[in-house]
Amino acid sequence: MKDIMDRLKKEESFLWLQPEGEKETPFSLEDIEEAKKFMEDFAPLLMEVFEETREGGGRIGSELKELPKMKKVLGIEGGRLFGKLDNSLPVAGSIKARGGFFEVLNHAKRLAEEQGFYQGQPLNILKHRDFYAQQEIEVASTGNLGLSIGLISAYLGFKVSVHMSADAKEWKKALLREKGATVYEYPGDYSAAVLEARAASEIKKSYFVDDEKSPYLFMGYALAANELRDQLEKEGLLDEKINVYIPCGVGGAPGGIAYGLSFIIPQAKVYFAEPLKAPAVLLGMMTGKHDEIAVRDIGLSGKTQADGLAVGRASSLVGPLMVGRIQGIYTLGDDEMLAYLKKLYETEGLKVEPSACAGFKGPYFTNEEAVHVVWLTGGRLVPPEVFEDYLRS
Ligand SMILES: Cc1ncc(COP(=O)(O)O)c(C=O)c1O
Repeated sequence: MKDIMDRLKKEESFLWLQPEGEKETPFSLEDIEEAKKFMEDFAPLLMEVFEETREGGGRIGSELKELPKMKKVLGIEGGRLFGKLDNSLPVAGSIKARGGFFEVLNHAKRLAEEQGFYQGQPLNILKHRDFYAQQEIEVASTGNLGLSIGLISAYLGFKVSVHMSADAKEWKKALLREKGATVYEYPGDYSAAVLEARAASEIKKSYFVDDEKSPYLFMGYALAANELRDQLEKEGLLDEKINVYIPCGVGGAPGGIAYGLSFIIPQAKVYFAEPLKAPAVLLGMMTGKHDEIAVRDIGLSGKTQADGLAVGRASSLVGPLMVGRIQGIYTLGDDEMLAYLKKLYETEGLKVEPSACAGFKGPYFTNEEAVHVVWLTGGRLVPPEVFEDYLRS
């Protein structure tokens, strides 16, 4: 343990393998099935509001794409390399669309039940726009969750406020303002923005989307496991050795996916990837302190160019649920993520953001003959000039 702590403090890139542990199971497979049915019921509405979901039948899903050229360039020898293209998810352009849609739609349904205009029929939110325009949703974010909740809520007609930490990129704030969200900016880190957002929400009595412990976001992410199972089955790969690598910030998105996979593709080994200066979930899990320790406590800054992963303290919900569920967590540098970003564009023509590339280091650490699934977590909305800057940097 001391050795691992020293490596973290020295900002070394390494893989931590989780010792065996007892699983906690607060959500069942039936809960995941119910969540899937919930999203299917809303598919017609999503197709109506969001044109880009029509091709996929109102499904919030992404392609699984083999990346043979990237595999060659990276020199990965064993197995096959796939990208799970959440960078192109509808509306929000990131993995955060999964949790965001599920949470906002659940909130809309709950309000409709309270008001008496939902009695089991498909809920048409658009018919009640005047009502929803009076309902406020609040969220804190390093960028992509804010973009997801902000855009989805604004399109559905809610009033929405997004509280952004200092790491959030300017273009994300500008896009939100353009779509009608109110954006607040704070000089501090993500945890500070959460405190501000929570306090604002208490005063206004608005609905607070809590990235640090929302079970709705978590279940929305967990649904990705069904999708991956169907895709691997279609490729005839479901019985193979499967390794999944997911970039990790506060832990919600990768945690929800890992939770779903533990039921749905039980043999899948899941690895999280965190920045050298912001390994919040790794620190929480290896010490068993989860959200009761922050990277600053061990002298790390929490600062990274990978804005989606710029989180110093882990989710209180997710850390404990990952005990016995994930294989391990590794760290890597911003320079490595940027190098992967460039290679991915050059080889496969895919445009993603720096955070989204953290999964590519995983196969080096595992070094196995396996189906390597690298989760590409965001990027579709990155403006061309910002992407050009990434290529030049
Ligand atoms: C592109 C990207 N990848 C991964 C993540 C990690 O998700 P989480 O913070 O839920 O761990 C984020 C979070 O915002 C993100 O924006």
